[in-house]
Amino acid sequence: MKNFTPGEIWPDNKGVHINAHGGGILFVDNTYYWYGEHKTAGEAGNVANVGVHCYSSKDLYNWKDEGVVLTVMPEGSGSDIEQGCILERPKVIHNTKTGQYAMWFHLEPKGLGYLGARSGIAVSDNPTGPFTFIKSVRPNAGHWPKNFPDELKEMPVRAEGYRFDGGSIPAHPDTLNIVKRDLEEGQMARDMTLFVDDDGKAYHIYSSEENSTLHIARLTDDYLDHSGEYARFFVGRFMEAPALFKKGGKYYLMASGCTGWAPNEARSAVADHIWGPWKEMGNPCQGEEAYRTFRSQSTYIFPLAGKEDQFIYMGDRWTPTDAIDGRYIWLPIRFDEERFFIDWQESWSL
Ligand code: DGJ
Repeated sequence: MKNFTPGEIWPDNKGVHINAHGGGILFVDNTYYWYGEHKTAGEAGNVANVGVHCYSSKDLYNWKDEGVVLTVMPEGSGSDIEQGCILERPKVIHNTKTGQYAMWFHLEPKGLGYLGARSGIAVSDNPTGPFTFIKSVRPNAGHWPKNFPDELKEMPVRAEGYRFDGGSIPAHPDTLNIVKRDLEEGQMARDMTLFVDDDGKAYHIYSSEENSTLHIARLTDDYLDHSGEYARFFVGRFMEAPALFKKGGKYYLMASGCTGWAPNEARSAVADHIWGPWKEMGNPCQGEEAYRTFRSQSTYIFPLAGKEDQFIYMGDRWTPTDAIDGRYIWLPIRFDEERFFIDWQESWSL
């Protein structure tokens, strides 16, 4: 293959459609690694029956199947990552100090629907695994966000005992004081990505507070835990599917709204510092079907190796009734002075 054909079947080196949904890319040793959710057939294929799948490539068109690099545990094992749990949006980053590969994912322990809102962490000495599951957490237990107003710390919690449906809440998240509700247990974390800055600091970006608000959290130096330093952005904007990247010293974010598996209009934002202020710049998609992100949802945006200014948008066209058939929408990112854009192309090459 010598071009990208967004939305079509994308065969791997064995001729099988790539099975790495909600994925992300790691570039190391002149090789791209694509990690994603291994889905199975039918509607039941939306839960984790197998684990996290990895593929490798030198050219981004042709992908070699590296197999399942994190395997879910057998039914009845009682593990946090027991078969039948929800394990979504895995991302892997390389820690050049420890030499290890850290994998983070959104985890919903089996049988709780989406109420768990946890983050899973696994580690390996090798990009192609096997990854060892370490633990799952609710981020930043006991820590206030660094940009949380003192008045809110004193305000009563009005969301005590409530769990909402993920798409809406009955009042502004600050009125409910969801952060305070979750202070001791740790903040909720669902859709997520990871980002490593030029200085080697790594960040976990996740939908929190019943999906109403995005948190950006710095990881510990080994990338295997939260540092306790985090901040809230886009309060009450209900953003999912975050993808964060940096170009020319500026930080860019893409995200979706919250409409389950159905595509919606994407958002974008820009900042001079990771801790903000972040400024929303609207829907980055242009042209036909831009209003629903070309029938996709963002999962990752990554730079072409050795080309500072070229980035690729990676999105999922979900097929919830037959999860394994989900398609991938990869498109180039275009920039003007202030913001970035994505245009539809049926077929394109680098
Ligand atoms: C939207 C999220 O972006 C997906 O990762 C998944 O959690 C679905 N919601 C489930 O409905």
